[in-house]
Amino acid sequence: MSKSINVRTPSGNYEVLVGSKLLEDYNFKWLVQNRQVLVVKDSNVPNKILENLSISLDNSEAKQVEIMEIETSEKNKSFEGLMPIFEVLNSSKFNRDCLLIGLGGGITTDMVGFVAASYLRGVDLIQIPTTLLSQVDAAIGGKTGINFSGSKNNIGAFYQPKLVLMDTDSLKSLSKLDFVDGLAEIIKHSLIADKNLFTKLENIFLNDKDLSDAELTQIIYESSLIKAFVVSNDEKEKSDRALLNFGHTYGHAFEAIQSLEGFSHGQAVGLGMICASHLSLLLEKISSEEFEKIKNLIKSVGLPHELPDNFNEDDFSEAMSRDKKILNKKLRFITLRGIGSAEITEDPPDDLVLKSINL
Ligand SMILES: NC(=O)c1ccc[n+]([C@@H]2O[C@H](COP(=O)([O-])OP(=O)(O)OC[C@H]3O[C@@H](n4cnc5c(N)ncnc54)[C@H](O)[C@@H]3O)[C@@H](O)[C@H]2O)c1
Repeated sequence: MSKSINVRTPSGNYEVLVGSKLLEDYNFKWLVQNRQVLVVKDSNVPNKILENLSISLDNSEAKQVEIMEIETSEKNKSFEGLMPIFEVLNSSKFNRDCLLIGLGGGITTDMVGFVAASYLRGVDLIQIPTTLLSQVDAAIGGKTGINFSGSKNNIGAFYQPKLVLMDTDSLKSLSKLDFVDGLAEIIKHSLIADKNLFTKLENIFLNDKDLSDAELTQIIYESSLIKAFVVSNDEKEKSDRALLNFGHTYGHAFEAIQSLEGFSHGQAVGLGMICASHLSLLLEKISSEEFEKIKNLIKSVGLPHELPDNFNEDDFSEAMSRDKKILNKKLRFITLRGIGSAEITEDPPDDLVLKSINL
């Protein structure tokens, strides 16, 4: 049984489906019949997942199906990395009526989304995210793009897909680290918008229970609902979409610091969410009980909850002031007003920000 979410944006509406066996069971005919289809697969996605998709596509009377693999790394998420995809489209004479399918994590969905936005000025797209992070975050909302000249995601387009399929079976082959990175984003969604989801996560992870398939589907669904709601109201990040950056102002600074090298994005954001919650406590927007609950949940899923011994405060201040320069001298923090509600705090005093990292 799958669950469905309708994403409504000014540039298009689409369905997000969450459930198991989706790739085997989904009838793609309405999107695929008589069309040229290119599947771009992350090379680390197990072949069994591709086989299931291929069988469903074969049953959907596509005119032509091409499959190609890409290597996914932040380095390859670049103009150079896109070239082989454009070359296949061009050499196979794909026309404006073709359809692209991105099958992989957030790197793949960002790259394939950008190709779909720009090939022949825009062709149809299906996103099939295969990591937890890409399911609850990257594949919903139409942000696509690549890295350029040392900056992340600085070239891209807002481009909505026609369909997003989140098959929970595809998560079984994920590494623990990649799975936990996705949990960080689910916790983030609960903190900014859904106290009930936060309590549900506490019940699962504080009791050290094994996550059942039904619970996994449910938390992906509830988390995706929040992302879908936020982007439906603010497709191009003019206002509320910024709330999704909870924990990220710290996270970006942590990712730039040498002593935290080797931290994944989810780990940096997990730690960033604890600091942002601490800032909320210092600003008297949440209670110390709420702060402890947040810290405990983040810790319970296996994310770091304290800074390493060799952490250097000066490096942190330097990384923050670099961001400050880029952002017109103002830093934006997302703070909590209780669990399940968030707001923007513009440029809090530097000494308070420094205090907030002392956990
Ligand atoms: N567009 C957006 O709104 C948005 C939001 C958040 C993140 N992002 C982007 O998403 C990327 C991070 O996404 P991610 O964490 O999914 O990274 P990723 O695409 O690098 O995937 C993580 C790892 O899992 C592997 N993988 C993917 N599916 C697998 C599967 N089913 N089984 C085993 N291994 C599998 C990948 O090869 C990779 O090694 C970043 O580039 C980030 O900028 C975009």
